[in-house]
Amino acid sequence: MQFDQAYFDAGIDRRNTRCEKWDDRGVMGPDGIPLWVADMDFPCAPAIVEAIRERAQHPCFGYSCDDPADEEALRGYWLRRHQLHIAPGQTVMLPCVITGLKAAVRTFTKEGEGVAIFTPVYGPFYEAVRANGRQVVRVPLQADENGRYPMNLKGMEAALKAGARLIMLCSPHNPVSRLWSQEELTALAELAERYDVNIVCDEIHADFVYSPGAFTPLLSLKKARDRAVSLCSASKTFNVAGLQQAAAVVFSDAMRDALKRSLTAAGAACGNTFALAATRAAYTDGDAWLDGLIAYLDRNRRSLADFVREQLPKARLTPIEATYLAWLDLRAYGLSCRELTEKCRRHGVAFTAGTFFGPEGEGYLRVNFGCPHQQLIAGMARLRDALKEEN
Ligand SMILES: Cc1ncc(COP(=O)(O)O)c(C=O)c1O
Repeated sequence: MQFDQAYFDAGIDRRNTRCEKWDDRGVMGPDGIPLWVADMDFPCAPAIVEAIRERAQHPCFGYSCDDPADEEALRGYWLRRHQLHIAPGQTVMLPCVITGLKAAVRTFTKEGEGVAIFTPVYGPFYEAVRANGRQVVRVPLQADENGRYPMNLKGMEAALKAGARLIMLCSPHNPVSRLWSQEELTALAELAERYDVNIVCDEIHADFVYSPGAFTPLLSLKKARDRAVSLCSASKTFNVAGLQQAAAVVFSDAMRDALKRSLTAAGAACGNTFALAATRAAYTDGDAWLDGLIAYLDRNRRSLADFVREQLPKARLTPIEATYLAWLDLRAYGLSCRELTEKCRRHGVAFTAGTFFGPEGEGYLRVNFGCPHQQLIAGMARLRDALKEEN
């Protein structure tokens, strides 16, 4: 099968499949175009469907036992795609990435302690900290004159100096589309070493990187190896988030054991029969599909930038180095996120409100461009019309 432009242009009708993005009609009205929650409107790789179908042929779905082939598939994938050597036994299975964030907070900090986070950031980061009785220490990112967000290392140092005990990093960063550079990540790891704190690093978007960028796994850095937990999943990359399967990669034996103990104490088990089959297939047989996908998303990314420049002259689009999520600054239109969302709903299009990512997101929308090109442009045209509308 060819995973070319025509394949991804065809997309897939997801309506009436209990799909959060399409079937939650309150968000955008009956004929709405969803450019919000972060999953994609493409069928997943055929190898994944085949693996699930094959497993379903055996009509018994009891408990699964561990199989080293699952870890082997993950290790092979990370070596092949990101040149990261993971030794056998250095991974811990998780039901999802957010479970990993929460478990890391519980394992590596005490109640009341601070967790430092670059903001704005994916909303559940805050909840992972607060729901566990820890304090969010915001380290605000600020756009430079090109709209790009450099890592705020000074702010992070101040947070650590003031006593924050864990860094929670999103790499690449959702929503500001940053591919952190090796220099930035190294400087961050040096800070972690200087203040003797750990880093939990959500690398769920690692595969969505655009030329000429290359993803740097935090664990590939010498200074980070013994103090980092990296969280990964096939869920975003292969569009299988509903299956719920992720993993933590931890090189430090002591940290890995501590994390495992927390997970066991919380009863956070995994081993969903279909998720295991799907993840193994994704990591072993998904490369051709993924390469086609990245080429397609790259085209969408460029079209989106053209659209904003030509049709939304007052808007500012953050340069998209990674992820299929774009950070759109609409503050010049003078509308709050609530007003923007309501206008968009009336015009039949949905984005994620910037405030979902923190107060810095007021007046911003996050655009999900993981969809057929035509859908992206139609949704953006609705946004343009919504912004023309008188109040
Ligand atoms: C940065 C980031 N982390 C985690 C998640 C959710 O991952 P999971 O469903 O595995 O908890 C998302 C989903 O959008 C995300 O963007």
